[in-house]
Amino acid sequence: MPIVTFSPTGATLEVAAGGSFLAACENSDAPADFGCQAGVCGVCILVVEEGADNLTPGTEEELELASQFSSEATARLGCQIIVNGDATVRPG
Ligand code: FES
Repeated sequence: MPIVTFSPTGATLEVAAGGSFLAACENSDAPADFGCQAGVCGVCILVVEEGADNLTPGTEEELELASQFSSEATARLGCQIIVNGDATVRPG
């Protein structure tokens, strides 16, 4: 089962392969914040430090909104992420 690691704390979250990062967080005490849960508000902004290729690529809409909340090239909206393998993320 893929593991998402939260930097800098090292907290980890198991996510079923092909599963929603948001759903996995809701079923745990993962250190991630969500608002609208629909790719609109930007509260869930994250920066992917490692394993970006293990996440389903962001849509044009998602990446455009993410770029409004972070200047990092690997910024993603946590509520939109589908996990296919291990990754490391930090707050955006
Ligand atoms: S929770 Fe609002 S954009 Fe992700």
